[in-house]
Amino acid sequence: MNEYRSRWIENVAQALRLEAEERGIEPPEGEIVPATPPSTELGDLAFPMFPFAKTFRMNPAALAEAVVSRLERCEAGDAHAAGPYINVRYPRAAVAATVLESCISADTAYGHNRRFVGERVTIEYSSPNTNKPLHLGHLRNDALGESVSRILAACGADVRSVNLINDRGIHICKSMLAYQEFGNGETPESRGVKGDRFVGDYYVRYNEWAAEDPSVEDRAREMLRAWEAGDEEVVALWRTMNRWVLDGHAATYESTGIEFDAIYLESETYASGKTQIMRGLEEGKFLRESDGSVWVDLAPVNLDRKILLRADGTSVYVTQDIGTVLARYEDWPFDRMIYVVASEQNYHFRVLFYVLELLGYEWAGQLYHLSYGMVNLPEGRMKSREGTVVDADDLIAELRELAAGEIRSKNREAAVGDVEGTAHAVAVGALHYYLLQVTPSKDMIFNPKESLSFTGNTGPYLQYMCARINSMLRKADAEDIRPQPSAINAELLDAEVEWELIRLISRYPDVVEQAGIEYSPAAIAGYVYDLAKTFSGYYHDHPILAASDPSVRDARLVLARAILVVLRNGLELLNIPYLAIM
Ligand code: ARG
Repeated sequence: MNEYRSRWIENVAQALRLEAEERGIEPPEGEIVPATPPSTELGDLAFPMFPFAKTFRMNPAALAEAVVSRLERCEAGDAHAAGPYINVRYPRAAVAATVLESCISADTAYGHNRRFVGERVTIEYSSPNTNKPLHLGHLRNDALGESVSRILAACGADVRSVNLINDRGIHICKSMLAYQEFGNGETPESRGVKGDRFVGDYYVRYNEWAAEDPSVEDRAREMLRAWEAGDEEVVALWRTMNRWVLDGHAATYESTGIEFDAIYLESETYASGKTQIMRGLEEGKFLRESDGSVWVDLAPVNLDRKILLRADGTSVYVTQDIGTVLARYEDWPFDRMIYVVASEQNYHFRVLFYVLELLGYEWAGQLYHLSYGMVNLPEGRMKSREGTVVDADDLIAELRELAAGEIRSKNREAAVGDVEGTAHAVAVGALHYYLLQVTPSKDMIFNPKESLSFTGNTGPYLQYMCARINSMLRKADAEDIRPQPSAINAELLDAEVEWELIRLISRYPDVVEQAGIEYSPAAIAGYVYDLAKTFSGYYHDHPILAASDPSVRDARLVLARAILVVLRNGLELLNIPYLAIM
């Protein structure tokens, strides 16, 4: 449809030039920007004549008349004057035929565009610590990171998704110390719990213990020193416990469809950050205090000053991140890198990017912090044993329960077959849609019940719409009705809502492109919901399989099939499982 748009811009420009020539005036300059009429009934494009009225010394309505008389009806549609506007209508049947054909033949690739072809993008998301299970905040992080990766890939970028595991430091030593003290050699297997939960329990145990006996803090610090010195026993315990946590996290990722191309361990990269800071110090970019600590002055970016190396030479968080990003760049030189990290760390990333710039890395300007707000549950609901965070596995299990209950209460067990599997897919769909439909920077409340509603603006509603179209196509197939896009009579798709649907389908590649430019899964979410809702209204008023004329039925079936292609592709970009039956 974009070709028609450009054709008409050219047509109108040409007619304006001719008109000017005839009247012996300078042709108007500047770009011609068509507007979208308030309803498709009025037309598909509107050219306001106000901007040219002055040059022509004519009132806009008279100019519109004059220009229209120079525009011939052509295969790109027809134009008519409507007051000060020139309204253009596209040749609907021809457009419909092309759009349906290209959508259905591109199939899973429909919507892919070439916006970022040739660009290498590294995107980091999730990035947990190895002292506890993933929580609700990680679910928002993972949903965003996974979706943005998929969207950028659909825009042609070469995407590398990475996860940074903060696997060293005092917080890790705390769970290790509590395990040493109270563990009695038990293991996740012996207790029958997931490894991340198991270790998280010891972290909680540590905090209770330290509240009673402040001296354990010193023991934790001592353990960190032993770890840094490579103490065999401490390192062995660290290995074992980290493995337990990582296996647990991996199971959560698997259940939510989150994948990474590479994993970076802080323990393997943090040391190289120190070297960089020492180099910067020698080059006079940082300051050394009398106690030996190293600082960066952030006045040029309107911030205070920040410590980079402690007096005892141990590194801080930002120094670790310098080592990590260098390792990544070396492994796979990127054109840009996106960090999906909570807004609590906005300051951290400003410092990190500035320090990298000081250190002379010209790609520092290509680093971007995709910051997102907090997510909570409606008050008083499902607090973890620590009383603060909501465990990701618990939340998914609860959603799955609710979804399974829904399937049973609708007596859909036999129809769906695999009740547990379907309930899980519905749970993940509900979760991801709810988290992604909100602008990332905003704080939000995740409402489990609301997210699962089959009728609202939700993931399950979209999954259900796909299942309904699927069931219709299956029925048609069983009756040997398999119309091909090239064989339908698109003139029969003459209802206004059918034209709206065609326009929506044709817009999809632009929506994906825009979502890629803005890192905005919410743009895709809003779009697929519009499409599903428009289709639902259409389907309600226009029988498809039951249409009395077989040619009408075939045309409508092809339209429905194209809508299914777009919904499925859109859900894929949001990491919402597609269900053929629900
Ligand atoms: N593990 C950190 C935390 O839980 C987040 C890491 C974010 N990524 C980074 N490159 N600093 O707070």
